[in-house]
Formats: sequence, C-alpha cells, structure tokens
Amino acid sequence: MAKGKMTSIFFCQSCGYESAKWMGQCPGCKAWNTMVEEKVDRKVSGHRSSKALGEELHTPVSISDISTEDEERISTGIGELDRVLGGGIVPGSLTLVGGDPGIGKSTLLLQVCRQLSDKGIEVLYISGEESLRQIKLRADRIGSMNAHLKLLCETNLENICEQVKRSGASVAVIDSIQTMYSENLEAAAGSVSQVREATAILMRMAKEQNVSVFIVGHVTKEGTVAGPRVLEHMVDTVLYFEGDRHASYRILRGVKNRFGSTNEMGVFEMKNEGLTEVPNPSEYMLSGRPVGSSGAVVSCAIEGTRPILIEIQALVSRTNFGFPRRQSAGSDTNRLNLLMAVLEKRLDMKIGDHDAYVNIAGGMKIQEPAIDLAVVLAVVSSFRNKAVSDDTVVFGEVGLSGEVRAVANASVRAAEAEKLGFKRVILPRSNVSNMDIKGIELIGVGSIEEALDKIV
Ligand code: TYD
Ligand code: MG
Repeated sequence: MAKGKMTSIFFCQSCGYESAKWMGQCPGCKAWNTMVEEKVDRKVSGHRSSKALGEELHTPVSISDISTEDEERISTGIGELDRVLGGGIVPGSLTLVGGDPGIGKSTLLLQVCRQLSDKGIEVLYISGEESLRQIKLRADRIGSMNAHLKLLCETNLENICEQVKRSGASVAVIDSIQTMYSENLEAAAGSVSQVREATAILMRMAKEQNVSVFIVGHVTKEGTVAGPRVLEHMVDTVLYFEGDRHASYRILRGVKNRFGSTNEMGVFEMKNEGLTEVPNPSEYMLSGRPVGSSGAVVSCAIEGTRPILIEIQALVSRTNFGFPRRQSAGSDTNRLNLLMAVLEKRLDMKIGDHDAYVNIAGGMKIQEPAIDLAVVLAVVSSFRNKAVSDDTVVFGEVGLSGEVRAVANASVRAAEAEKLGFKRVILPRSNVSNMDIKGIELIGVGSIEEALDKIV
C-alpha cells in the first residue's frame, strides 16, 4: 500500500467492529444499522505505532525485580468514587467515565477537580462541549473553586497534549472524547477512528507524562457518534454512570479496572448543589416505604460486594382483557412470567387471569435471581390482599418446581438486614447451616409453600 493511501472501512458505532464491507447487523454486538463507512489512513496510523515501539529498545525484566510498594494513589476526596476506582486515582492512568447525556458525568468530574485542587494538586479540565462561562456556572452551583483548577476549551488533541505538558497538571479531564479530534486523521470528530486515535494519543500522554486522565464518553443510542464501548479495551479503567432520569440517585459502576476489582459501585444523589454521596444506599432505597400495605416485600440484592435492601412492590388484579398483562420495572419481565407460572402450577393458585405489575422502588435495576422469592411473596401478598410484616427481609432463588435454592453471600445480606433494624430473614434453608449471625431471626425455607406458610 502506498504511503498515506486512504481506504474505506466500515465500523460499528456501538462496539467498534471493523469490516471491509457494509452489513446490516454487526457481527460483534448484534446491533442493527450501526455500521458506517469511514475513510482511514491505514499507513499513517500503523506506521506511527511501530515507530513508537522502536523508539527505545526495552529489555525484559524479571518479575521479582519489579516493585509495587510505592504505588501511591490520589484520593479523589469522594469516598464512593474512590471505592469504585479501587482506592483512589493511580498516577498515569486513563479512566473512561461513560453514561447517557445529562446523567451527571461533567458534574462528577468537576467535583473531583474541585476536591483535588483543594489539596493543591494541579488539575486541568478540558471541555470541547461547553464554553468557559457554562463550566463556571456549573462550578458555582457546586461550590467555591480553587485557583489550582484550570479550564481550557479545546478540541484539537495535539494542542491539548501541549497544554497539559505546559500546565504541569497531574490530573486532566477530557470532556468529551467524542468532541476531540487529531490532525493526523481526516475522519470527523466522533467517528470510530477519531475516537480511537484520540484515546491512543491520550493513553500515550498519560503514560509518558505520568498524568492521570479522565475521559468522558457519551452513550449514544443512535446517530453517527461512536459510543464509549469502542474504547473500553484501550483504557485502564471503565466506569459507567447510570440512573433513572426521573429518580435522583445515580450509580457509578466499575466495569473494568486494571488496578482494582470490578463490579464495585458507588451511589450518588443529584441535588441542586451537585452530586452528594449516599454512603448507606439501603436506607435511601427504603425511605418512604409504606407500612402494612399488601404487595410490598423487602429483599436484599448484592451490587458488587455491597448489599442493598430494596423494596419490591407487586400489584395483581383481575384482567379486563382476554390476555393478562405482566410487567416489571427494574427486574426481568420474563422471570416474572416464569415465577407466576410456578405459582399457578405448584400452588394451584388461580392467577392465570390476573394482570401483574412488579416494581422495584427507587428505580433500581436488579438482574439477580436472588430476589425471586421476594417477587413471589409480593405477588401472593397482593393477590391475597394480605400484608407481609414489615420487619422481614426475604431472599432466595426460586426453581421451576417451586424449590428455594441457595444464593451467594447470604451472610452479607442477612447482616445488612440486621444493621437496618429488621427482625427476621426468610432465606434458603441450604444457606442457613453455615451462617453465624446472632441479632436477627433466620428462617430457612426449602420451597415457596413453606415460605408462604411463614408469612403471608
Ligand atoms: P451534566 O454533568 O451536565 O451531565 P453530563 O455531563 O453527563 O451530560 O449534568 C446534567 C444534569 O444534572 C442537568 O440536567 C442538571 C443536573 N444538575 C443538578 O441537578 N444539580 C447540579 O448541581 C448540577 C451541576 C447539575
Ligand atoms: Mg457533560
């Protein structure tokens, strides 16, 4: 191939899959209509990376000679974020913060900048989306800022690298990667090849200058902007910021972490003066819980390593149409259908002609089957119009023959229930034997019949 020859490649905007021809469905992530054509200068980008490798010849080092002791981390001053990062920011690391537009990514990172600059750390916040005035207006809502925080409106990556070098910043924020472009590529900002090239440049900058870089990436449902999944494999840490647009709480989830464990999560609440930490999510999720009403059961889910008590609400009523409606918000609707079939078959309960709606209060989304038993009890409680006593927490997986199966981390769940002042836990019998918890009554059950005898 001649130097600088342009070729055309089709990229999936959602996962970055590359193909020489257009396809209706991406073979990588199975999304439809996400492939778009981009002109790529293969020679140039390939050439530069090989040069970077050859610049100095690295020699192999024995693994026992590498010291990890002096690996210090910079605390962000935000406990929930530190937890997800695995104890703080690692110098020279590249972190991607993804999430829907408007979820609070810029707000969170501006708050991080504020905390860090208050400690005297030089921070550079680079925005390609908002004017300096807009950033300042947001900053004013959050609180007073320190002079160690510098702002820059720029979208040209070569300039950004130069400015980061000059400013001597140890932490830099790029908001957002989809607005940045490198002069080396012809492709438009936001295209898969630009987003990748931009990330590669930032990665090199982070490692060479030992700057910790945060990249903001918008999750886009459609359109022509590459999503953050395209660069997940290139960065050190991937965090996703999630939450219900209508609820004020936000969850920060670690999806990948080269310096700590994944599956950790942090909980925040969006307030008028920015994001505040929610150190005890269970209390938050259960606040405003109705007392003594039928169809509500408290369960315990595990998010990462952390137990969270949630309230599961069910409403069962006779259907007005020939075909009953089943709907669940926050949990899996197919799972609800399955559990109702189990109830109908194993307990001979006539709920086939009833609509059922299940909701997890607070807008949490739980995929774990450990909440099955609570969903079943909530449905029966609503069907029979009998309240479940509100000092009880229920968890366990329900199998197709109505058996209650063991779940992971049962002790952690029970301990959380105890901590929040609950009196009883209904849980799988097979979990009870190896548990050592004193302050709360543990009621082991082997089947849904047994569980129903115990409460509803
Ligand atoms: P933003 O951080 O701009 O979102 P992103 O960068 O992810 O697109 O946050 C946008 C929303 O947060 C906006 O709708 C307003 C709200 N918000 C507050 O409720 N309180 C605040 O103090 C701030 C700064 C924003
Ligand atoms: Mg933003």
